[in-house]
Amino acid sequence: MNDAVAVTDALLRVRDLRVEFGGRAVLREVSFDLFAGETLGLVGESGSGKSTLARAVLRLLRASRGSVAWRGRDLLACDSRTLRALRRDLQIVFQDPLASLDPRMTIGETIAEPLRIFELALDEPARAGRVAGMLERVGLAAAMAGRYPHEFSGGQCQRVGIARAMILSPALLICDEPVSSLDASIQGQIVNLLRDLQADNNTAMLFISHNLAVVRHLSHRILVMYSGRLVEMAPRDALFDRPIHPYTRALLAAVPSPWAPQPQPAATAVPASLPSATGCSYRERCRYAAAICAATEPPLEEVVPGHFAACHRARELMT
Ligand SMILES: Nc1ncnc2c1ncn2[C@@H]1O[C@H](COP(=O)(O)OP(=O)(O)OP(=O)(O)O)[C@@H](O)[C@H]1O
Ligand code: SF4
Ligand SMILES: [Mg+2]
Repeated sequence: MNDAVAVTDALLRVRDLRVEFGGRAVLREVSFDLFAGETLGLVGESGSGKSTLARAVLRLLRASRGSVAWRGRDLLACDSRTLRALRRDLQIVFQDPLASLDPRMTIGETIAEPLRIFELALDEPARAGRVAGMLERVGLAAAMAGRYPHEFSGGQCQRVGIARAMILSPALLICDEPVSSLDASIQGQIVNLLRDLQADNNTAMLFISHNLAVVRHLSHRILVMYSGRLVEMAPRDALFDRPIHPYTRALLAAVPSPWAPQPQPAATAVPASLPSATGCSYRERCRYAAAICAATEPPLEEVVPGHFAACHRARELMT
């Protein structure tokens, strides 16, 4: 990980994003920027809306409000032809490596698919050469190109998924729990592979994980999501050393060592309708809850430069 990321114009600028399923808002008022070469970690318990955010950003599902500006163009508003062209630069790696690969395609065909779609000028030998190079880059033998996904382990399938996502050197890679289904011994290898590929290409990364140790290892900044909203956003060290929001503090209370098997947090019982404009959605669980917390929902505010929290008592809690 590069310690410093040049802060220029944001590659990705998400503003006031909202997603509803059946009239229920599962993502609300989500705003953040992502810069070239930056890794933004996204944490939060099961059901908090992390995958929904990833999919809404890539327009794999429809947001009901907000904007997602990619290099200044709104992905949510552009026509489908423009979106298809922009997708070249926007890739995602999913949690379940085997399920995300087409069982009828050899892994060579799978990795070559983005080249077929976006690099029409490449002839077959050139494409095969690029695939072989990419296979080797992710730690697999080029000779494996003719095999099918079921012949590979979970870790190898994830390497294939990463090779497919990275073959066009995308400017943005979203990783939605890319290692949580893998054995602990393999997780570190895959995380380091992602980190190395990111450094090679100066790719911006949105990295979703339950594993706080991995998020700490990879991220420059971290977003904390609770019940569909961002409740804290801060540079990595500020977040881990000086967390503000009571939910973040609870989440960080026990950070295990890197690569230790992670217990999957239990799914949160999400209320039939999430708390509306009244009150803080964390108040039932918050030991610091006060009268104001039931009356109004706290906005996400910059408490110290670069460090944002959505808590009425943020300034008191910092002292
Ligand atoms: N297609 C859908 N239809 C209806 N509700 C959905 C759909 N997808 C997600 N949800 C709901 O949206 C909320 C957020 O789900 P999401 O999958 O984004 O959470 P998550 O933070 O990624 O959880 P996990 O850590 O378990 O992956 C949950 O209440 C979930 O039940
Ligand atoms: S706003 Fe109130 S209830 Fe919500 S996290 Fe802060 S102190 Fe707790
Ligand atoms: Mg998810």
